[in-house]
Amino acid sequence: MTASTDGSIGIAPSPAELAATPQRHRELAQGALLRADDLVAGYLPGVNILQGCNFYLRNGEIVGIIGPNGAGKSTLLKAMFGLIPVRAGTVTLRDADITGAKAHTLVTKGVGYVPQNNNVFASLTIEENMQMGVYLRPRTFTTRFDTVCSLFPLLGERRKTKAAALSGGERQMVAMGRALMMEPAVLLLDEPSAGLSPMFADEVFVRCKKINAAGVSIVMVEQNARRCLQVCDRGYVLDQGRNAYTNTGPALMKDPKVVELYLGTLAGSRAVIPHSAG
Ligand SMILES: Nc1ncnc2c1ncn2[C@@H]1O[C@H](COP(=O)(O)OP(=O)(O)OP(=O)(O)O)[C@@H](O)[C@H]1O
Ligand SMILES: [Mg+2]
Repeated sequence: MTASTDGSIGIAPSPAELAATPQRHRELAQGALLRADDLVAGYLPGVNILQGCNFYLRNGEIVGIIGPNGAGKSTLLKAMFGLIPVRAGTVTLRDADITGAKAHTLVTKGVGYVPQNNNVFASLTIEENMQMGVYLRPRTFTTRFDTVCSLFPLLGERRKTKAAALSGGERQMVAMGRALMMEPAVLLLDEPSAGLSPMFADEVFVRCKKINAAGVSIVMVEQNARRCLQVCDRGYVLDQGRNAYTNTGPALMKDPKVVELYLGTLAGSRAVIPHSAG
């Protein structure tokens, strides 16, 4: 417990809260593969959704982004991938400023993105979806498709099937496979497990681990916060367009405030929540 200047008693900030400050971010983000600094972005004039967001991803990491609905998680991915204008702040890839670079340019620089919704061409076959993934480098199709099929064998086995005929989990594999066709160094995944049965959802997390082991650094926005933090090296909690907490996955899962505010019930958890006297 700490006493503040007005004499009130508060709970000392947790390590995850301290790590989420802009100053700590600047210290920790040195040498990152991808980073966002003080990002301000939004959709409507005069309305900022991201209000100075910070983020970094090191080479080889899986980093999760969790937080309530409307926190700005998808907006952060879109701002880093050049899909919405950045109003202030910077996005950096391997020490090069990519703020405002368009998605098609970022794809050629090794960034892949799988959006939250409508992420496959439903009227096209699996194979045609994969061709769309490498339309910028069509000659690499055969080699890349073989590699992607080694991660997702279903894509090869059912290559002539239209994406419209696939289940939600299978479509998610098509979407991830298509992004992998360009051999990205970084993959931005927006809610890869959304809408899937627990079994399929778990399969997605296992695949992400495999993709990561194959050398792809991953940023994963997830509703399935606990499972996400289990597979991630580090996690960020966003709230109202700002960084609320950041730490390793296991540390966030043990942080009493993160548990109370963002991970829901304590059932099955040993964490102790501090209660206020009032
Ligand atoms: N295309 C858009 N036009 C205007 N406002 C938008 C648009 N997309 C999102 N917003 C607003 O931006 C805010 C953040 O949305 P965002 O999609 O980033 O949230 P999120 O954290 O990804 O939430 P969820 O968990 O529900 O996917 C919300 O208030 C939302 O209404
Ligand atoms: Mg979202």
